[in-house]
Amino acid sequence: MAHGGRKRVPLVVGNWKMFKTSAEGARFVRELGEELGDVDDREVMVAPAFTGLYEAAKAAEGTALSVAAQDVFWEWEGPYTGEVSATMLAALGVKAAIIGHSERRRYFGETDEAVAKKVWASLEQGLLPIMCVGETEEEREAGLTEEVLARQVPAGLASVQAQDERPMVIAYEPVWAIGTGKTATPEVARDVIRQVRCQVEKTLGAEAAQGVRILYGGSVGPDNIDRLMAQPGIDGVLVGGASLQLGSFVRIARYEKA
Ligand code: PGA
Repeated sequence: MAHGGRKRVPLVVGNWKMFKTSAEGARFVRELGEELGDVDDREVMVAPAFTGLYEAAKAAEGTALSVAAQDVFWEWEGPYTGEVSATMLAALGVKAAIIGHSERRRYFGETDEAVAKKVWASLEQGLLPIMCVGETEEEREAGLTEEVLARQVPAGLASVQAQDERPMVIAYEPVWAIGTGKTATPEVARDVIRQVRCQVEKTLGAEAAQGVRILYGGSVGPDNIDRLMAQPGIDGVLVGGASLQLGSFVRIARYEKA
């Protein structure tokens, strides 16, 4: 995977979930592009619903921003009612796909096997996969965090070869911290992200582990962004609720470098 000597450019992704119409999203992207100007030391992405991707990608043209989908299907085309392929997304100007978000795992029965196929299809079609992993509250309380990651990370990367040079991203999102206002402390996030990197190393080797960007997600906001980004090994953030308002997302995207 990705990675030999590649610099891990920090990445800030706003996951809009099922919020914002296409017109609202496009307006947001135009305003965000103006606010941020030519940022070149970090990457900033927004992930609208499928219906908003086209307009958002058009609005992002000529700005420093790019657009991610919130999901993707693994086949290129075929009789799969309701699904959208990586080929179709890439043709719209979409650059990345969030895969295996805990809400998809929980409400739509997404399995580690499905995640692996989606990661593979995205790589094959030139999309940057942003693969989400993380433990639930019960798992954390039972001391199973490491075990959960030791399952999810290798399973999600099952189709990727160690020598694959294509970039990919993993987002560590403890499920108990998503939309709850409970954030992992920056130190806990750092430590778990270190475990995630270890799992990547076991699965794909040391070079891949050094090259893969690992984000933190779960109640990220203007108040904790600088402390999170100051932690070694946290390469960016996946932001839900706080990405919906321009002011708070701009503040997050403009995090201060330690
Ligand atoms: P949150 O969501 O920032 O609202 O906690 C994060 C996510 O689900 O990606």
